[in-house]
Amino acid sequence: MGPVSETPAAQSGQRPRGAAYDSVFLRAARNEPVPHTPVWFMRQAGRSLPEYLKVREGIPMLDACMRPDLVKEITLQPVRRHGVDAAIFFSDIVVPLKAAGIDVEIKGGVGPVIADPIRTRADLRRLRPLEPGDMPYITEAVGLLVAELGATPLIGFAGAPFTLASYLVEGGPSRSYENTKAMMYGEPELWADLVARLARITSTFLKIQIEAGASAVQLFDSWAGALAPEEYRRSVLPASTEVFDAVAPYGVPRIHFGVNTGELLGLMGQAGADIVGVDWRVPLDEAARRVGPGKGLQGNLDPAVLYAPTHVVEAKAREVLDAAKALGGSHHIFNLGHGVMPTMDPDALTRLTAFVHEASAR
Ligand code: CP3
Repeated sequence: MGPVSETPAAQSGQRPRGAAYDSVFLRAARNEPVPHTPVWFMRQAGRSLPEYLKVREGIPMLDACMRPDLVKEITLQPVRRHGVDAAIFFSDIVVPLKAAGIDVEIKGGVGPVIADPIRTRADLRRLRPLEPGDMPYITEAVGLLVAELGATPLIGFAGAPFTLASYLVEGGPSRSYENTKAMMYGEPELWADLVARLARITSTFLKIQIEAGASAVQLFDSWAGALAPEEYRRSVLPASTEVFDAVAPYGVPRIHFGVNTGELLGLMGQAGADIVGVDWRVPLDEAARRVGPGKGLQGNLDPAVLYAPTHVVEAKAREVLDAAKALGGSHHIFNLGHGVMPTMDPDALTRLTAFVHEASAR
């Protein structure tokens, strides 16, 4: 098999229309009329579900990501249970880094931990390019899933260059990103090289998922909110733009999301997203002003609202739906403003899914 980018599908931009083409999720993503607002939840597969904890017992996170049968089962669990309008591929943003030669582990309750952080030009040599054949387990898992999901779309995803760089440079999760920013400000050429390499790895990871059948993609720049807009524009936007450009020929909807990115929403749209994910800090009408015309919005219920009584959850969800409705059109996908939390009551998510469908019926 040659490089993914040279396949006829990528060159022509014409992919066969999958069974999910006319799903509510993909219609809304294209701003076509829908019978109701589609809904899915970031981190819908995971520790909030007892059936997830059961199948993951004794299996390290990254091992689980390399077992197609398990990936298929875990991805399907929230679709079966909640009746959400899309599945999100069960994997992690650091899986392609591992495939590209980085010694990384995911520690429970902590997150990704990198054995030897990348801080120097010499360190950077350890980050080799990702070849399409490096991830046969991803191709296999996506294929199994798409066959099983039928008319329900599968969202592929990847971490954006800045967020991946923050883990590689810090060596793990961080609050202040001091080492990452020290490289960005102090060694701009090394930084540019790092994020350019990450852009190519991320593009390849997304292409692998799309070519195997994913019908939309979400690029997570979860921690980009740590940056001022001008710094984002100078040091991050070019690399994220490269990723969106690389997958543009496939014609699948591209979503871009980060936390605390209120000041960056316009720039994140400019990077090439068709739909911008919004956390709960910015109301959707204001987000629409910042993002500008022609792009959809995804979000943005505060996840912590799910811990309040049902009538409160429904009132707050209705506020989100009303704000989206006031914008006109169908270009809204309901989601939380960030991921499902492990201690959340899964029944509250099932109820919320049904509520969004009913309250938005048209
Ligand atoms: O349902 C889904 O959303 C699909 C699966 C998914 C996971 N990680 C599974 C996972 C997705 C889309 C991700 C993306 C991801 N991973 C992001 C971007 C999304 C975001 O939350 O902003 C980030 C920043 C990571 C890095 C990462 N991986 C973190 C911060 C953690 C949590 C650490 C912890 O224990 O609290 C992980 C581990 C991880 N990724 C888990 C899951 C289900 C939990 C691990 C476990 O179950 O043992």
